[in-house]
Amino acid sequence: MRQLPLVVLTQAFHPEVIDQDLRPRARVRIIRHLRELPAALRHADGLITRFSEPVPEALLAQAPRLKVVGNYAVGYNNIDVEACTRRRIIVVNTPRVLTRATAELALALLLAAARRIPEGESLCRKGRFKGWASDLLLGLELRGRQAVLVGQGRIGRETARLFRGIGLKVDWITRQDSAASIQAKLSQAQVLSLHFSLNPSTSHWLDERKLGFLPRDAIVINTTRGPAIDEKALIRALQRRRIFAAGLDVYEREPDIPAALRKLPNVVLLPHLGSATRETREAMARLVISGVLGVLGGKHPWNAVNQI
Ligand code: DGY
Repeated sequence: MRQLPLVVLTQAFHPEVIDQDLRPRARVRIIRHLRELPAALRHADGLITRFSEPVPEALLAQAPRLKVVGNYAVGYNNIDVEACTRRRIIVVNTPRVLTRATAELALALLLAAARRIPEGESLCRKGRFKGWASDLLLGLELRGRQAVLVGQGRIGRETARLFRGIGLKVDWITRQDSAASIQAKLSQAQVLSLHFSLNPSTSHWLDERKLGFLPRDAIVINTTRGPAIDEKALIRALQRRRIFAAGLDVYEREPDIPAALRKLPNVVLLPHLGSATRETREAMARLVISGVLGVLGGKHPWNAVNQI
């Protein structure tokens, strides 16, 4: 009888989905610590990782049988995809299933930043709410404001639908925009929301210069990857009240959040929750497993990001 393929996981993502979908079709090894990974990969046919775990060529070199890397995430900037392609390893990810959850979180961050919800909440929790006042924590009304979204992928388009739903006007910055057009759009952006994937050309896309073009009432929302923004420049802009606020789900050196950022009242901070709904995380687990099993069964699944 042919032995089932060996799939190594860096975490027990959704254990019941692993039991139902993966265990009947593969031998499963869940490592307890990343330092076990190179040895675990020696005989592995498949690997399932998180976006926070780098998969460089040096690691792939220790996995002579590896045919597939599944990322339990839509973003796959942690994986050296070119090296995978050279080594005839397919990479699969989790597109589509997290589009809505991430867009909803972008909207939640925007509402929270515009209406200063964390400041109000903290006032109540600390017992410092001393009664209604006409000037208490005044925020910004969003209807009619100009939002500019960077990146027209699925999450960007879904976020745009939600933003329009609360009355925001939506414009886009895409790869086709010239530097002059980017500057013109940024100068109108009362809401700037980032929805592009991270790669060397988009790292620090929002830098000191671009932050300087934003209007003073701008709110910056980031649900993509932390390095999309020059975090130090953003901190300075928030400290100097160059912009109104920011809503961040991701950080440059995650999970580290600089103390200077944590101290600021005009920023909403979340611990990378974009896809964190029960429905979405289960769907992500099913999708990454089906992609991995598809490759191990000799197919090219729809959620493959490279061709070999
Ligand atoms: C992703 O999928 O890329 C998120 O950042 C984690 O769910």
